[in-house]
Amino acid sequence: MNAIEMKNISMIFNKKIVANKDISLSVKKGEIHALMGENGAGKSTLMSILFGIYQPTKGKIIINGKEEYIYSPIQATKLGIGMVHQHFKLIDIFPVWKNIALGAEDVGLKQFIRKKTIVNDLTTIMNKYNLHVDLLAKVKDISVGMKQRVEILKVLYRKADIMVFDEPTAVLTPIEIDGLLKVILDLKKDGKTIIIITHKMAEIQKVADRASILRLGEFKGTYDVKKTNIETLSMAMVGRDLVEVKNDRKVIDHNEVIQIKNINVRKHHKILGLKNFSLNVRAGEIVGIAGVEGNGQSEIAEALTGMKKIESGTIHINNKDITHLSIKKRYKDHKMCFIPEDRQKFGLVLDTNLIDNIALQNIDDTKYSKNGIINRLAIQKETQKIIKEFDVRNASSGFAIARSLSGGNQQKLIVGRELSRQSDFIVIFQPTRGLDIGSIEFIHTQILKAKTENKAIILISYELSEIIQLSDRVLVLNAGSVIGELVGDQITREKLGKMMVSSLGADHE
Ligand SMILES: Nc1ncnc2c1ncn2[C@@H]1O[C@H](COP(=O)(O)OP(=O)(O)OP(=O)(O)O)[C@@H](O)[C@H]1O
Ligand SMILES: [Mg+2]
Repeated sequence: MNAIEMKNISMIFNKKIVANKDISLSVKKGEIHALMGENGAGKSTLMSILFGIYQPTKGKIIINGKEEYIYSPIQATKLGIGMVHQHFKLIDIFPVWKNIALGAEDVGLKQFIRKKTIVNDLTTIMNKYNLHVDLLAKVKDISVGMKQRVEILKVLYRKADIMVFDEPTAVLTPIEIDGLLKVILDLKKDGKTIIIITHKMAEIQKVADRASILRLGEFKGTYDVKKTNIETLSMAMVGRDLVEVKNDRKVIDHNEVIQIKNINVRKHHKILGLKNFSLNVRAGEIVGIAGVEGNGQSEIAEALTGMKKIESGTIHINNKDITHLSIKKRYKDHKMCFIPEDRQKFGLVLDTNLIDNIALQNIDDTKYSKNGIINRLAIQKETQKIIKEFDVRNASSGFAIARSLSGGNQQKLIVGRELSRQSDFIVIFQPTRGLDIGSIEFIHTQILKAKTENKAIILISYELSEIIQLSDRVLVLNAGSVIGELVGDQITREKLGKMMVSSLGADHE
């Protein structure tokens, strides 16, 4: 019996962008079905149609044997369909419990929200699936990984039978990913039907029964995961073989570009997120920062880029003190580039077009404006160059609104913007989150190219393979301090793993 049948679905945006083309997809009741494909292949769009966010241009949907017209997410929820979205849909200033209950609150006498009941119900769910969050914390104060768990709890709270996970692991750390995959297997045991979108083969092999592949908006077949090898799946997705990119760890200048000395940075008013942290990075060197999420990684990025005040200590770039300089001065006078962790919050202005997004940090460059007059043509040309080089799809020559790009293509635009600008030092935070395997290969090549251009690079990533492939040197963080350092050939998965595991018993939030 099929829980879901999507038949001949087409979705055309603005009369010209064909996101889905005559796709037919069947998902069996009680299976875990992976949906795969390159960035922009149409995965999120297809699932948004199932969840009632978009009405398809053509096609029909059959849920549990009955044709349904899913005109809104409310209708989808009624039909027992839940979706964990690729990008969070949370209200920052509300506490976690309220975010989860919003729209499905337990209300007494039509006006009193029964907070206690809601919190109790949520605690039961959290214990059952080992999916813990601080229900009373405000969303703005919690980590990316925890926000993801909040989104999952939202769906579980609404008791969905059919659950769609749109790249749920892209924002999680390896340990959290294992936890989530276990949750997904438990949900299957409970009889739920699950669709999971992910770019990671290992995850698919761990949990999925079958996998369907989309390519450039078209359906390319459904495969039995146990009977199919990785090469077949990636070939169907990307259409070519892939090579692993690796740092040869050769040329490193002696010139120290970044000098961080004994800095203390607060996580929030009570806790120090970074304690007495020091790090020097030379020109042409990539220093990887590894560790379990929430152990000071964000604070390193925030301190270097000027997003957070430093309590004590100093940061020098090319021997000039930038400790208390504004973000703008760091970009302009000290040639900073920054790929932020949260692309939608800190990387893009979502409701403007790509051209405006490209000139965000350096609109007052003489290249882009003179005497207050903006040279739109120059910005447009630069945008088109980046779009082409970094293969940003459906960009409409830069006139597309940033929000309309698929998640991975938004990421490619940011990486393109940051790596194309003149720079002395680059802070890179999770550069390939949510990218397809072909794009990861490409971005890794670009980061290594930046090394050969003698830039000083700090690479913060939760993806161990990324750290191992790209770093000249790796620091492992725990509770805001460095607990280990590996150089060159010492950098192996085993050694890093050991250091990280030994830190797990320690006391962090
Ligand atoms: N609201 C929209 N308006 C215009 N175009 C859109 C809109 N939503 C999606 N698209 C386009 O449709 C195509 C498919 O996007 P979709 O988000 O479904 O891709 P995806 O497979 O989920 O990719 P990713 O892995 O990067 O998340 C993209 O090229 C995107 O630019
Ligand atoms: Mg998507």
